[in-house]
Amino acid sequence: MLVNATEMINKAHEGHYAIGAFNTNNLEWTKCILTAAEKAKAPVMIQCSEGAAKYMGGFKMVVDLVKDLHDSLGITVPVALHLDHGTFEGAKKCIELGFTSVMFDGSHYDFEENVEKSKEIIALAHSKGISVECEVGGIGGTEDGVTSSGELADPEECAKIAALGVDFLAAGIGNIHGVYPADWAGLNFERLDEIDKAVGGKPLVLHGGSGIPFDQTSKAISLGVSKINVNTELQLSFAAATRKYIEEGKDLQGKGFDPRKLLAPGCEAIIAKTIELMEAFGCAGKA
Ligand code: 13P
Repeated sequence: MLVNATEMINKAHEGHYAIGAFNTNNLEWTKCILTAAEKAKAPVMIQCSEGAAKYMGGFKMVVDLVKDLHDSLGITVPVALHLDHGTFEGAKKCIELGFTSVMFDGSHYDFEENVEKSKEIIALAHSKGISVECEVGGIGGTEDGVTSSGELADPEECAKIAALGVDFLAAGIGNIHGVYPADWAGLNFERLDEIDKAVGGKPLVLHGGSGIPFDQTSKAISLGVSKINVNTELQLSFAAATRKYIEEGKDLQGKGFDPRKLLAPGCEAIIAKTIELMEAFGCAGKA
């Protein structure tokens, strides 16, 4: 059975580690993330953006896939299925269809509208035992075709959203989605510290977790981050391993073109990277 993310995130917050929240794109990704979590004995969040859900056939398909693989693979670690960067309508739909956790990203609305809409999603989700993430201040970069310039979240606004009873809160602290540019200034720990103090112990979420040096993720965890989102890094790992297989001509040897063989190195790379990140975030061995 899938669980909501409240307990695993609260335990991570108390224990000063972070839960890895990995974006799924298809069957292989889902299987690899679940396999990695089981091997690492780590509680895990599998998250899906609305774009990825559309690609996979719809929200219900994602729920069925994750639930089924969880049972078929005999997964014993806690697994939450989370909507990543949900719209107001998307979040409502996922609550209805069996996601166990949702993010409502109202950061592009005027703040008052973000508050009103967040409040409604939180009430609806909590009435069904589903955990909720909201966002204050845009995360930079491009995710699912939506580009944001990235801003530092306002601690006062964070405090207001935290007071609505949200379970964990995403706040911009200089993090961006995708590959970090060579001249990236790094995470803004001063702002993170201010936000952490303002939200009164509410767990914080670090988006754009791909490629952040581990000394920075560790410092962020010490300042209240309890969930770290990773998408790009698994995609890069899969692509590099697949490229190597093809460049070595292995797809042309024997039945090397069989998808089960062609996709195997990429899948092994996803599993290895996921375990490496779980160890770095401190959630390995916590299930
Ligand atoms: P990356 O693609 O940079 O890892 O970001 C993932 C993310 O934050 C999903 O919300």
